[in-house]
Amino acid sequence: MALENSIQIIGLNGSPHLKGNTATLMSWVLKGCEEAGATIEWINLKDYNIKYCQGCHTCLRTGECAINDDDFIKILERLISSDGIVVGSPVYADGPTALLKTLMDRFTLLNLFVGIFEKPYTVGVSTSGFAPYRKLAKNIAMVMGHKIGIIGVKTSSIKKGYQSLKDLKKDRLNRKAHKLGRKLVASIRLNKKPYSFMYWWINFLRKHLIKRVIKNNPEQFSGILPIWIQKGWLKPEK
Ligand SMILES: Cc1cc2nc3c(=O)[nH]c(=O)nc-3n(C[C@H](O)[C@H](O)[C@H](O)COP(=O)(O)O)c2cc1C
Repeated sequence: MALENSIQIIGLNGSPHLKGNTATLMSWVLKGCEEAGATIEWINLKDYNIKYCQGCHTCLRTGECAINDDDFIKILERLISSDGIVVGSPVYADGPTALLKTLMDRFTLLNLFVGIFEKPYTVGVSTSGFAPYRKLAKNIAMVMGHKIGIIGVKTSSIKKGYQSLKDLKKDRLNRKAHKLGRKLVASIRLNKKPYSFMYWWINFLRKHLIKRVIKNNPEQFSGILPIWIQKGWLKPEK
């Protein structure tokens, strides 16, 4: 059982493999988190039922997703209440796996319009065969909170083809992953949000553009209007 007041880190694995390359690299980062005193919990998306976003915009009208007969809310609540998320995905066709993308689609509008991921600090982990992995690792870390860092590796070689990270001698990568895990926990303890142009830009959009859209269309956004007022982003109408 988690200790009270201990730092809670979630390992959100978007790979279908529970002990594959992505999970292995994530486990190295999470080991670093543990060394720094955090409590770890894994969410392997493969074990959950998450339906596709229907693009119905109900979340903007009601503040809630229209789909309520799957595991989405359960996972979302665990993510947004955690202190940190180590999110991982292999590169599949130049993007995240469908498992992770399906989850991301479901919270995208709520995140943009209500900023649900205000609390967690994140580390993005990605592995690929030959393709660049940095962009993916960065994107998945940024959508779920305050990015502290990313890590990734290419795991195929022309000579040996597909290789398992567990069989490769990657001492330097392992050390780097541990260090990143410790840095994640240290950042949470310091409670210092890293500067990011993207977060600045989203806040700017909220303050100047989305605010006006919501104000001019109160019926369309009736669900999230009270949240904006509660957060002090909008003044209540007199
Ligand atoms: C369906 C599928 C699509 C993939 N697409 C790419 C790709 O576009 N580029 C790439 O470099 N590797 C690609 N790969 C390779 C994986 O990204 C790579 O082997 C990764 O390390 C697997 O991680 P895992 O063990 O966690 O599943 C793909 C693998 C699969 C199964």
